[in-house]
Amino acid sequence: MRIFGQKPVVLKPEFDIPLHAPCLGNDNVTVRQAGRHGVRALEKFWQSRFGLPAPVALQSGTAALHLALRILGIAVGDRVLVPVHTYVATVAPLLYERAVPVLVDSEPETLNMSPRYAEEAIQRLTSRGQKPKAMIVAHLYGMAARIEDFVRLAETYDMVLIEDAAESVGTSVGEQLTGSFGQAGIWSFNINKIFSGLGGGALLVQKETQAVRARKLATHAREDKPYFYHKETGYNYQMHPVAARLIHAQMQEFDRIIARKRNLHETYRRLLRDLPLMPIDERPGSRSNYWLNAFLLPEGMHSKDFVGFMQANGIEVRHFWFPLHRMELFGKYEYVGGNEAEKFFNRGVLFPSSPCLTAARIERIADTARRFFGA
Ligand SMILES: Cc1ncc(COP(=O)(O)O)c(C=O)c1O
Repeated sequence: MRIFGQKPVVLKPEFDIPLHAPCLGNDNVTVRQAGRHGVRALEKFWQSRFGLPAPVALQSGTAALHLALRILGIAVGDRVLVPVHTYVATVAPLLYERAVPVLVDSEPETLNMSPRYAEEAIQRLTSRGQKPKAMIVAHLYGMAARIEDFVRLAETYDMVLIEDAAESVGTSVGEQLTGSFGQAGIWSFNINKIFSGLGGGALLVQKETQAVRARKLATHAREDKPYFYHKETGYNYQMHPVAARLIHAQMQEFDRIIARKRNLHETYRRLLRDLPLMPIDERPGSRSNYWLNAFLLPEGMHSKDFVGFMQANGIEVRHFWFPLHRMELFGKYEYVGGNEAEKFFNRGVLFPSSPCLTAARIERIADTARRFFGA
């Protein structure tokens, strides 16, 4: 079976060049072989390939985050620090459990949650008797957050650390993969991710007992009996066996696919170096998967003009994630920070980053960007 090929899956016909599409080959996945053991085989592969103690394959990254909260005992009224610069799925599972997000601003180098503002939030809440129980750190666009600082904060203040590595599958800090630093981490394999089951996720926990508990909750908390019997409420969060086969096949080519992504980033840097676009780079000591290639426009220029121009030319350039504290859904929650995430949003653009983007298409993207700047 060959899964990783040259053909991007067409998701949005309105764009000639989509933001990110998985690259699937021509051959059929043998569904006959894709039973539940395919899901277990994928988990075993993650254990042996990446040295992860207890990975659980699930239906989505969001489901994985939700189960992380359940497993780690984050419940009604618990305060949890989250970044404002992230996708809503980082935070939505807190709302499912009626926990209380505390929104924290970004730091300029990685665009991810600022350890300084996080510490300010912890101290502010603790001083009024509302010490936060946990923090969820996301690694956006593949760029590692300052995870060592968050590990230190979690130890100092005795808090649970959860990593949202949905976008950073394969990104490492030192020798360690993002998603494996906290008590729990999650990965996503949805349709726009580098390794895609066209839907899928993983919960990475430290202990096998937690993995067993997660698998139970993911199958409607079915008791171990010869008939269907339930004592508590669970969810239908299992990974589909066909998704497991797709992901497994792609991840067997892990090094090659990550190398392609890193090459694409280098190509963008080279082709765009004369334009006023500042690339967001991996921080020293980390290795990004460059899921999406992020750039900042010069100060005073707004991303909407550039995004509009590129999209009108069939190229799906996108905005950064809109800051959560500026959304209606999150307006009532406490915010700690300045206006970093807002500044990035105004200037940030994301370039098409499919791993099988051809040289001709990359040239077309660069030429179109050049036309925008009149270069
Ligand atoms: C930062 C972040 N967190 C969580 C998720 C949720 O993953 P999924 O789409 O697999 O539920 C995503 C992706 O959609 C994401 O980008």
